[in-house]
Amino acid sequence: MTTSAQIFPQGFLWGAATAAYQIEGAWDVDGKGESIWDRFSHTPGKVLDNATGDVACDHYHRFQDDVALMKSLGLQAYRLSVSWPRVLPAGAGKANPKGIAFYDRLIDALLEAGIEPFITLYHWDLPVALQDRGGWANRDIAGWFADYAALMVRALGDRVRYWITLNEPWCVAFLGHHWGVHAPGLRDRRLAIQVVHNTLLSHGMALQAIRAAGGSRTQAGITLNFDAKLPATDNPADQAAADAVLDPNYEWFAEPILRGYYTPRILEDAGPDAPVVQPGDMALISARNDFLGVNYYTGSFYRAAGDKPEQVEMPGTEYTLMNWAVVPQGLTALLKRLSRDSRGRLPLYITENGCSYADEISPDGRIHDAKRVAYLRAHFAAAHEAIQAGVDLRGYFVWSLMDNFEWALGYRQWFGVVAVDYATQKRTIKDSGYYLRDVIAANRVL
Ligand code: FCB
Repeated sequence: MTTSAQIFPQGFLWGAATAAYQIEGAWDVDGKGESIWDRFSHTPGKVLDNATGDVACDHYHRFQDDVALMKSLGLQAYRLSVSWPRVLPAGAGKANPKGIAFYDRLIDALLEAGIEPFITLYHWDLPVALQDRGGWANRDIAGWFADYAALMVRALGDRVRYWITLNEPWCVAFLGHHWGVHAPGLRDRRLAIQVVHNTLLSHGMALQAIRAAGGSRTQAGITLNFDAKLPATDNPADQAAADAVLDPNYEWFAEPILRGYYTPRILEDAGPDAPVVQPGDMALISARNDFLGVNYYTGSFYRAAGDKPEQVEMPGTEYTLMNWAVVPQGLTALLKRLSRDSRGRLPLYITENGCSYADEISPDGRIHDAKRVAYLRAHFAAAHEAIQAGVDLRGYFVWSLMDNFEWALGYRQWFGVVAVDYATQKRTIKDSGYYLRDVIAANRVL
């Protein structure tokens, strides 16, 4: 519900997010190395329409205009990712000065515009050179990743305060290595579960590297993706049913990071595929974070059916073009749970939240994306409710600043609050973009 009192705390940071491969293009210029997404999208049959990120939003060449666009929306923060092979073409070893110079200029442009950069070091575009050495399935990646993190913090850490190690390692592990629908396109459950552990280990090592290379103001964390599993009614049996559903995102990632262990039931579910864990790993993985990034899009409902939980469709549920149910109350529940499980000591940021709908340009040239506005409004209100309940939520990044390459779904999903005409690269602010601008200016739900 929207009430007049939904004001966010002073200093709450409003922004939007993107990822390198989804917007930059310029896949092979200025010395950039090949990434696993270059290779995957160039392999026929992997991506819808065989679309690629070769050009995407051409942000590499248009970043100045894009920063001006962000400024016109009043963004206070911007979450971007660095393309690892752009700055380290072979993944390790010799850096590419032109690649680093790109991010250097981008950061300066953001700061000039008064926008706080949040950098994600890994948003899925691993250098192929490292994939050829086993990629995330090779435990050595923790060292390669920490070296890369240190390189970036040395280059930009004088101006960039917020560092996110990995984006959604659940997707890296399972979409990339179990179901094979994302790069590197492998289908091996055991490998995927080892990747879970190796991404976490890499996060732990990178935290140390970031802190060693950064100044005292440096804030380091990780971004995890969650979906909420909610009871269909407030009957305690349904609550128990929802709690009984295995939650791989939470149990493979949030639990080890917040509490230092994998839950017995997730290990039991893994069976012979459980990860190889070495002494000291869990301490490294559960080292203190300065913040946690939360990506939230959807949730599902359960009721008790005999002694088993059963997923139910709630009447009247709205679905986005991704076929994801719109469940804003799941965001409130999730934020409260994370706050509880970290004993209130871990500042939270929503690092992604948004929706895809097929937009239409109306005769007046505008994009009246009322459903996206409604989605954002409901989720802003849900976040506000969590803050009212005592959750230390510090900021909110909408996914996404602009329409972009949606991984295996190519250019057939539209998450932006700004539309991109890929033929002309023209950007058009949607109603949701103007809505976001007004919410930021008012610092409350409108
Ligand atoms: C998240 C990804 C992001 C984007 C959104 C829709 O899983 O982090 O890159 O694809 O989903």
